[in-house]
Amino acid sequence: MSDLPRQPQILPQHVAIIMDGNGRWALRQGKPRSAGHEAGSEALKRTIQAAHERGIATLTVYAFSSENWRRPRSEVRQLLDLFLRALNREVSELDKHGVKLVFIGDRSAFNRTLREGMQRAERKTEGNTNLTLNVAVNYGGQTDILAAARILAEQARDGQLDPEQIDQERFESLLSLSSVPPPDLFIRTGGERRLSNFLLWQLAYTELYFTDILWPDFAEEHFDAALADFARRERRFGGLGQIRSA
Ligand code: IPE
Ligand code: IPE
Ligand code: MG
Repeated sequence: MSDLPRQPQILPQHVAIIMDGNGRWALRQGKPRSAGHEAGSEALKRTIQAAHERGIATLTVYAFSSENWRRPRSEVRQLLDLFLRALNREVSELDKHGVKLVFIGDRSAFNRTLREGMQRAERKTEGNTNLTLNVAVNYGGQTDILAAARILAEQARDGQLDPEQIDQERFESLLSLSSVPPPDLFIRTGGERRLSNFLLWQLAYTELYFTDILWPDFAEEHFDAALADFARRERRFGGLGQIRSA
């Protein structure tokens, strides 16, 4: 991978992606949905490389939502199978390129092989600094917030915490992604304009970008289009920014 110069003012440091549209992509090709997921994993590889080349520090991708269990068992099995194969196949390569892998979401629902694979991948890559790749699996934004609330309630019940001490910083420290700044740019492929329970808290001031491109077709040019769009946005965070009062 080559290193392009960083443009810190206009480049998002953290990009979050809902990789949607695999099934429809497959349907259009007359293939089974699983073929769409396979092609989607190639699109993810391309995107990781593109993010790294552009100097983006953190990429967070939605691979499996806590609601995706509602799909037919066969599709869930295929998805988890693909996930395990990708873990076994790609981790060394990612490690070689200095990618740090982190998984967010509730792992307790997965079998031991998968949980151990995830843990091994995290341990192997934990010292890497080129790009942090957060993969959301069995992740739900509402569960993320509920889990933090529960921990705080338990601490208060046990007398370790005065409710007055619960502020934004303390709350955020208990959420997923607490060690990285929130996403600057959110991308959803596949045409739907919704969050589908992804990073609800963390997206509070993220710039949202939606594209009709189906995830398996998502290529460097589409990523660059999203980055170019981001570079034209004015982030005001509730202030006035460039707006001048009369
Ligand atoms: C995204 O593609 C992958 C996962 C949700 C795991 P979909 O499988 O949702 O594809 P569509 O939205 O049905 O086309
Ligand atoms: C969101 O896509 C989850 C992932 C991409 C992993 P879905 O396809 O599950 O979202 P909905 O059901 O259209 O909202
Ligand atoms: Mg979908």
